[in-house]
Amino acid sequence: MSDTTPIRVLSIVGTRPEAIKMAPVIHALARNPAFESRVLATAQHRQMLDQVFAVFGISPDRDLDIMRPNQALTELTARLLIALDEALAQETPDLVLAQGDTTTVMTAALACFYRKIPFGHVEAGLRTGDLDNPFPEEMNRIVAGHLARWHFAPTESARQNLLREGVADSAIHVTGNTVIDALLSVADRRPEIGVPIDPDKRLILVTAHRRENFGEPLRAICRAIRHLAETNPDVQFLYPVHPNPNVKDVAEALLGGCPGIILCPPLDYLPFVGAMQRSYLILSDSGGVQEEAPALAKPVLVLRQETERPEAVDAGVVKLVGPVYETIVAEAQRLLDDAVHYRSMARGVSPYGDGLAAGRIVAALAAR
Ligand code: UD1
Ligand code: UDP
Repeated sequence: MSDTTPIRVLSIVGTRPEAIKMAPVIHALARNPAFESRVLATAQHRQMLDQVFAVFGISPDRDLDIMRPNQALTELTARLLIALDEALAQETPDLVLAQGDTTTVMTAALACFYRKIPFGHVEAGLRTGDLDNPFPEEMNRIVAGHLARWHFAPTESARQNLLREGVADSAIHVTGNTVIDALLSVADRRPEIGVPIDPDKRLILVTAHRRENFGEPLRAICRAIRHLAETNPDVQFLYPVHPNPNVKDVAEALLGGCPGIILCPPLDYLPFVGAMQRSYLILSDSGGVQEEAPALAKPVLVLRQETERPEAVDAGVVKLVGPVYETIVAEAQRLLDDAVHYRSMARGVSPYGDGLAAGRIVAALAAR
């Protein structure tokens, strides 16, 4: 390859959060003449992926259209691996990039390994140390991390996790998380939510979708929300419900029609940012929301037992409450009633990035 031949980079993207977090990288690659950038959508998510690509003006060069209703992990993994292998055979990229810990990312790393294509892992090094939490994401990111040549760690603690696993320091770049690049690129527009919210009520925004919360934990979360709505008539809940039937069916059965609770389909990224900005408090088991909300000075109660994002917890602006009825009710009520406590958690801190992560990732690749 001559010095002027662009490096052919294939970005592989499967789900909503990957699209949000890879969009700044895809744009930065496109701006840099050292690279020829192509985008492969596995479409592990369909509608939720398409709406993010539309927001960020990205048209995938190839689309594997993998999603099936209520897809099981084994079948999803098997179909992804075969389809990705065929796509890599046709694309023959010089290197592949993928972000995070979904099944798309794990299979992309494995397919690259089999074909000896260098793999760069964006958002590398997040760990809880517990294979069951989050499930199956902790396994996915460990596998992707073991197979990666370049590790783009969002924070110093993610770098330390990788060093503990024996990754060479020279292969790790601490870049910040690209989610903050994406967030800052739209937050100034103060987007409309597009759902009628009572202007006189405090808004609590809710998201939940983790597999380890399916069943009784999700039902406990819903019962806590219903109790809080019944006992706080000055508060309104907005819950954009993930389309996974394991989530949607439970949320609609337990919360549908309850006064003070609005259930709606997933919000597009701009309205969702608008909802975070308008919110008083956020209840969520999402990874991305734990990163975005502190940058918007919004407290988050995390509906999980563990988090791979300890920085905001350490800063005191995010709190783990688990999918536990009593704890959710008690901690949310305290934030509603205790102004001093609320202010201590509603501080604008951004431990996950400064909005310049994508440029650092592309610069690190160009330097190689
Ligand atoms: C996946 C990721 C999870 C990530 C989440 C982001 C895995 C194993 N899980 O979880 O790490 O946090 O995405 O949201 O990779 N569906 C639709 N339309 C969509 C998207 C999903 O109908 O646009 C429904 C389908 O019935 C689909 C189901 O949701 O089968 C589950 O999708 P899947 O990607 O397997 O899991 P998520 O729970 O979305
Ligand atoms: N998000 C969105 N619409 C919604 C809910 C979330 O655009 O209705 C965005 C949110 O801002 C964040 C990302 O989706 O950037 C998080 O995705 P998700 O919670 O599905 O996955 P996770 O981050 O947990 O992997």
